Amino acid sequence: MNARSRHPANRSAPPRRRIAGRARDIPSFIVMDVLEKAHELEREGRSIVHLEIGEPDFTTPRCICEAAVEAIRRGETHYTHSLGIIELREAVCEHYLDSYGVRIDPDRVLVTSGTSPALFMIFAALLETGDEIIFSDPHYPCYPNFAGFLGARAVLVKGEEEDGFQLRPAEIRKKLTPRTRAILVNSPSNPTGNLLSPERMEAIAGMGYPVISDEIYHGLVYGETAHSILEFTDNAFVLNGFSKRFAMTGWRLGYLIAPREFIRPLQKIQQNFLISAGSVSQWAGVAALRKAAPDVERMKQVYDERRRYMIQRIREMGFGLPVEPSGAFYMLANAGHLSKNSYELAFEILENAHVGITPGIDFGRNAEGYLRFSYANSLENIREGLSRLEKYLATRRVSPSG
Ligand SMILES: Cc1ncc(COP(=O)(O)O)c(C=O)c1O
Repeated sequence: MNARSRHPANRSAPPRRRIAGRARDIPSFIVMDVLEKAHELEREGRSIVHLEIGEPDFTTPRCICEAAVEAIRRGETHYTHSLGIIELREAVCEHYLDSYGVRIDPDRVLVTSGTSPALFMIFAALLETGDEIIFSDPHYPCYPNFAGFLGARAVLVKGEEEDGFQLRPAEIRKKLTPRTRAILVNSPSNPTGNLLSPERMEAIAGMGYPVISDEIYHGLVYGETAHSILEFTDNAFVLNGFSKRFAMTGWRLGYLIAPREFIRPLQKIQQNFLISAGSVSQWAGVAALRKAAPDVERMKQVYDERRRYMIQRIREMGFGLPVEPSGAFYMLANAGHLSKNSYELAFEILENAHVGITPGIDFGRNAEGYLRFSYANSLENIREGLSRLEKYLATRRVSPSG
């Protein structure tokens, strides 16, 4: 090195620190913006009724917690097989046989740390840059965000309100291109709470494209029957988890069922990114599938009572809800008579009525002008929240502020 190259001005500059585009550009969850504002108001001493949250208000059933404690006592505190413990994969297969009459091999099941990583792994295994994946608008916010993160394109099929926003096979056919790699269905759906009819599921399965079926809200269905995509085709990727049905959001446990040739690639993704799902949570999951059916039934009855109350009150208050939602714990109500801007409306309601509600825009452009109400809260709180909202809307009608 000569004196000239040692001079600071002549050294090549270190690269400027910058955030990679994919991390910079991934959209946030708007519902979290509402929740954070709600928490800010709570810190100022306001009482807020939360109807925005997509998380069961129940604590995890006792038999599941006890199984986890026993697992800790037995020393089940290590990494597990990257596909998940065989006991849990077998319990998943039994569950799919009992509930849907479909026979799957435990080798086709991969246990993950929640449904979210399962979703990401399936997208990562199926989609190359520029590939297209079809799903409905409205939809769960992660779907387009994960696709975009991977450089793939979300192709949206608009649902119609009168039809419960469900995917129409004829509309899907219009969107198929040589770049289509998968069609995604979510029934019961977040944000609508509606189910996709078995006839439509069959028609979608019959198109011959891989179908990704997000079945996380199965088990929380009122008066109807949820069908698994595996009843109609093996060319399918099932996503499921324990967060909603078993009130286990904090345990971070889910699973996927995939065609056999995808398991090894998915397993390698799991090994690299996550190693395995949490061992204690997996043992809790075995107890959930084998022992917690009566608890799920009890929670379901409570949700159903809240659902019926909320549907009636939302309609009385003038919101549009042409189709009664019969699954999950959400309803997507038309608030177009109040505002065309659901984001502003949700914040206006939060700040003035002290009720948290999720703006429809979080779930796609087709849900703009709508609000998602969650009944994952006690009947008492739902009563209070809706009565606050009704009172506020009455004053707003006299002197509209938005
Ligand atoms: C439709 C849908 N899929 C997947 C998830 C992710 O759930 P988790 O990662 O807690 O299993 C959620 C959570 O709200 C959801 O609503």
